[in-house]
Amino acid sequence: MDKKDAAARLAELRREINEHAHRYYVLDAPTVSDAEYDRLFRELVTLERRFPDLVTADSPSRRVGGEVAEKFRQVRHAQPMLSLENAFSAGDMAGFEERLLNFLNLTGPLDYHAEPKMDGLAVELVYRRGVLEVGSTRGDGTSGEDITANLRTIGAIPLRLRGELASLDELSIRGEAYMPMAAFIELNRQRRAGGEAPFANPRNAAAGTLRQLDPGVTASRTLGFFAYAIGTPEAAVSHATQAEILAGLRRAGFSVPPHTAVCRGMAEVERHYHRLLELRSDLPYDIDGMVVKVNSLELQTRLGEKSRAPRWAIAWKFPAEQAVTQIEDVFFSVGRTGAVTPVAMLRPINIGGVVVSRATLHNEDEIERKDLRLGDHVVVQRAGDVIPEVVSVLTERRTGSERPIVMPGTCPRCGAALTRAKGEAARRCPNPGCQAQRVRALIHFCGKAGLDIEGLGAKAVELLYNSGHLRDITDIFDLDPHRLASLDGWGERSATNLMAAIERARTTTLARLVSALGIRFVGEVNAQQLERHFGSLQSLRKAGKKEFLAIDGIGEQAAQSLTDFFADAANRELLDRLERELTIEAPDSAENGLPLAGTVFLFTGTLRRFSRGEAKELVKRLGGRVASAVSRKITHVVAGDKPGGKLKKARELGCVILGEEEFGRLVGGNGARVTATSVTTGEKIKGV
Ligand code: IVH
Repeated sequence: MDKKDAAARLAELRREINEHAHRYYVLDAPTVSDAEYDRLFRELVTLERRFPDLVTADSPSRRVGGEVAEKFRQVRHAQPMLSLENAFSAGDMAGFEERLLNFLNLTGPLDYHAEPKMDGLAVELVYRRGVLEVGSTRGDGTSGEDITANLRTIGAIPLRLRGELASLDELSIRGEAYMPMAAFIELNRQRRAGGEAPFANPRNAAAGTLRQLDPGVTASRTLGFFAYAIGTPEAAVSHATQAEILAGLRRAGFSVPPHTAVCRGMAEVERHYHRLLELRSDLPYDIDGMVVKVNSLELQTRLGEKSRAPRWAIAWKFPAEQAVTQIEDVFFSVGRTGAVTPVAMLRPINIGGVVVSRATLHNEDEIERKDLRLGDHVVVQRAGDVIPEVVSVLTERRTGSERPIVMPGTCPRCGAALTRAKGEAARRCPNPGCQAQRVRALIHFCGKAGLDIEGLGAKAVELLYNSGHLRDITDIFDLDPHRLASLDGWGERSATNLMAAIERARTTTLARLVSALGIRFVGEVNAQQLERHFGSLQSLRKAGKKEFLAIDGIGEQAAQSLTDFFADAANRELLDRLERELTIEAPDSAENGLPLAGTVFLFTGTLRRFSRGEAKELVKRLGGRVASAVSRKITHVVAGDKPGGKLKKARELGCVILGEEEFGRLVGGNGARVTATSVTTGEKIKGV
């Protein structure tokens, strides 16, 4: 066979095999026997071996694995991959509906799209002109790991799209990769037989499988994939609803979540929730709840997102899994802020596939409220990723030998007398030099909510702390690779890797740094708000309490805590040093160039057309900021009906004052697809 004939035959084989894979994995309706499929596959592989330069990106031969990688490349998601807010009851769902209607200023019932929440791994697939190009994990939402070679091995992921979505230059698809229950049980059987530790649950097994550096291993394990969203806004606009999106994804060749429903109003949503709950144990894969999305994409766009989750969707989790076991002992753990938390040591028990041996008891009030004693039989519950907790005690199983749980009066680590502030449930160790607090603060600084230094997890930090290598934050930048290499269980390689990870972490953002510092009441969201407001560490350090309070989203406690933190001499010294060691990148300048960049809005009085929430959101989307109190920073005031004293003050400060109508014209349209006029240049800006 010459090359021309081979090329033609290969194209035919690719088309045929991809078609059979679709029938088998997606439609669950194969039209050929396994033997016939294998014959076609062998023919393809043999021909490709003779003509290696004829192998294409969509060739099914690429599903069986390939080169073993050293590590995964990072890929940036064109649009962030968001997570979901959780609901645990019908009451939470009613709250969700109320927030939606308020934001949209609507009264009527909305249409929702209800889908099972697959308990797997969020994945993004990028197709270029219909051919799978890159597949990645969610990562931190902004960028993830390139696991294309592994994802190719999943039969339910099309290598080439069909239908209208196939013609797009670039298309991002989001969905869930999961391990079916049967495959999970079989995999663990094999692992136990081979002396390997079993996976705790199908989700961990799926994650472990997709993070294999050898795609051959991934190919040997069965994974499934359901597509549930389109991540490219331009590709989504040809659909009017989430239901249409799923239909479009199915036409493109994907499997989409089954057992979905369009529900009018929350009563129907609730009925579907109970239907799924019944179905749950019969499904061949794990689901851990139901995702409820506003069905209309136009409303989704208006609703937008807040910090990391969309406003238009929520995950209604299934009830937590529970089991009964015994409290064998209680120890007291000292956190980063000195709070002393009682932790129950339990007789190990399997709850929904995960072995639980400790549970938080929160604080002494909780112990008293639940009437817990040492030796008690208790109901323990585990919900998703949260720390297991003790729900209640089985008093009928008491024998009389149970003993009270006594909170310590002094810090179990440093011996300082514990204090309990008015209105607080926690006892705290007041000694800022307490070793326990310092280790926890270090773990936090290096961890995911901090600088995210790979290789400096809790275990490594503790080891480095106890061996005297790492006593406070600034030591991170003085670590000596040669001394590290001689640590127990370490070597040249782990030391070099850690040094490289520290180097990478030196370039960071103001938000990350602020969050890393672990200032009380200031979490990741507040840190981002501070970054947006101040832009640089220098101006953040100069600010006073009043300025903090004027930032939308920063309350009294956080403002006080920030003020105290920046006034403290030791903290100032630490910050001086960090300023020298770190390169703090300017905040995402995405807002520069937006029409309201550089403006600060204040709203007063009642608006008619917009809810307060939507009005604020529109300003933010156009690059402006919103404040909650009058200050010199305010550039624009929007006055609705019955404006308060703020308006008078703003007039005195010489701000631009807008009525609701003028504001509407400035931000444009109905809020869904805005056209706006730049306040600085006067140009029309479209489609923000
Ligand atoms: S939609 C912006 N739909 O749940 C909307 N997510 O906590 C993002 N998940 O990371 C997700 N099944 O991995 C959506 N039918 C479904 C889902 C689903 C499972 C996962 C997804 C996401 C997590 C959200």
